[in-house]
Amino acid sequence: MARVLIAGCGDVGAELGVRLAAEGHTVWGLRRRCDTLPPSLHPFPADLTQTDTLRALPPALDVVFYTAAPSGSSADTYRATYVDGIRHLLAALEAQGHAVRRFIFTSSTGVYGQTSGEWVDETSPTEPEHFSGKELLLGEQLVLNSTLPATAVRLAGIYGPGRTRLIDSVRQGTAVCPDGPPVYTNRIHRDDCAGVLRHIMHLARPDRLYIGVDDEPADQCEVLRWLALQLGLPPPRRAPATASRTRSTPSNKRCNNRNLRAAGYVFRYPTFREGYAALLNTMA
Ligand SMILES: NC(=O)c1ccc[n+]([C@@H]2O[C@H](COP(=O)([O-])OP(=O)(O)OC[C@H]3O[C@@H](n4cnc5c(N)ncnc54)[C@H](OP(=O)(O)O)[C@@H]3O)[C@@H](O)[C@H]2O)c1
Repeated sequence: MARVLIAGCGDVGAELGVRLAAEGHTVWGLRRRCDTLPPSLHPFPADLTQTDTLRALPPALDVVFYTAAPSGSSADTYRATYVDGIRHLLAALEAQGHAVRRFIFTSSTGVYGQTSGEWVDETSPTEPEHFSGKELLLGEQLVLNSTLPATAVRLAGIYGPGRTRLIDSVRQGTAVCPDGPPVYTNRIHRDDCAGVLRHIMHLARPDRLYIGVDDEPADQCEVLRWLALQLGLPPPRRAPATASRTRSTPSNKRCNNRNLRAAGYVFRYPTFREGYAALLNTMA
């Protein structure tokens, strides 16, 4: 059984940790406020940006997940989380002599700058325009160039319990379909995020990079229309593409999960239909 640290143990980390603890692994959840950690996880209160709080990590760690997310949307918070935090944790692990056999970092498909509906995979160019993608890439490089056996998983938009932004927008009538060609979006259910991370932990020789998305990149409009149909509501209104584009408008690419499936992972929610149907059932 492994001794596992989940650094930045929030929504995905806690779901992962509960599953690993149920299998008999010893799991520590590291975050600044540990009061909401599930009871089967050992709390490890620490701030990844403060090296002094990492001076005495839990002993003899085998597996480390880095699932921290920035609490703000500035370049500084992204740098602190994805660059400084990773650097500090890697240095602490090395200084304390942990024989880590797997370090797994949850990166993002935001490292891709493609915006014309192109298919992308792990070999595609990564030339993000936005600072978020740039900082994530720096984090990946730190992890993959470290002395530890490391894997970065590029997750797409996470949805699941408590993460109902699209459903809410359809319910409230604020969802808008841009006119024009499809705008492709990629997503993964929170439970599959945890499942993918667990699966990679157990692989004998995982790749260094995986794209973590479900089987179907989908036109944002198709997803919204499908949700409206399930909710018995009229389809979202259409608007000129320029008027409906916002800072959070999807970047329009199609992420290929072939490598993850070739590694043997079987999705619980292969497309948005299964995932949102399950979510809508719990909200009914
Ligand atoms: N949201 C998406 O759609 C999306 C898409 C692609 C990739 N990802 C990545 O997926 C991973 C999992 O995301 P999630 O949804 O589980 O995030 P989440 O629920 O927001 O959890 C992130 C955790 O990081 C902790 N944290 C943040 N700063 C910290 C610090 N300085 N020191 C210690 N802990 C810190 C937070 O706890 P405290 O505040 O208590 O410290 C929180 O528990 C993240 O790496 C995220 O970047 C997310």
